[in-house]
Amino acid sequence: MIVVIEMEYKITSYNERDTATIAENLESEKFPNMVICLMGDLGSGKTVFTKAFAKATGIDEEITSPTFNIIKEYSSGELPLYHMDVYRLEDSHEDIGIEDYFDKGGVTIIEWADMIRDKLPEERLEIKIKVIDENTRILKLIPYGKIYEDICGVIS
Ligand SMILES: Nc1ncnc2c1ncn2[C@@H]1O[C@H](COP(=O)(O)OP(=O)(O)OP(=O)(O)O)[C@@H](O)[C@H]1O
Ligand SMILES: [Mg+2]
Repeated sequence: MIVVIEMEYKITSYNERDTATIAENLESEKFPNMVICLMGDLGSGKTVFTKAFAKATGIDEEITSPTFNIIKEYSSGELPLYHMDVYRLEDSHEDIGIEDYFDKGGVTIIEWADMIRDKLPEERLEIKIKVIDENTRILKLIPYGKIYEDICGVIS
């Protein structure tokens, strides 16, 4: 009998800087085709995380929330970054080929990834962010695939 135990790593963030540090630590483990799925309420820190990750990658362009464009691509860093915010995806009635980005050689970060569960790749890192109070967040890291399990072990 095979028992599959879903691993999860909980990290408490007490301020914006803590969330940025978690993003920077994950950035240092980045690899081509890495996929990070961010899930959490409005204002939980998904964009804060993405901006810190981008900056650590050496991206000098300004990271703006891609809510109305769905996908933004930044290429000035060590690896390309594909930043998606799929919150409004249902409003756009076209297939924008999200899956095509997962194996283009860059890092994909998806805000509101829970809205496209059926499109997510099998191997990925999910980060569920829970708002506790104005400045406190609990980040739950759930790795899918050995490479992400190893990364969580290293950074937690
Ligand atoms: N511990 C924390 N981690 C991250 N952000 C925090 C924290 N404490 C307070 N904040 C604040 O919460 C806000 C998070 O905003 P952000 O735009 O990153 O949220 P979001 O999850 O991307 O929201 P949306 O769903 O609207 O895209 C910022 O104003 C930030 O300063
Ligand atoms: Mg956001």
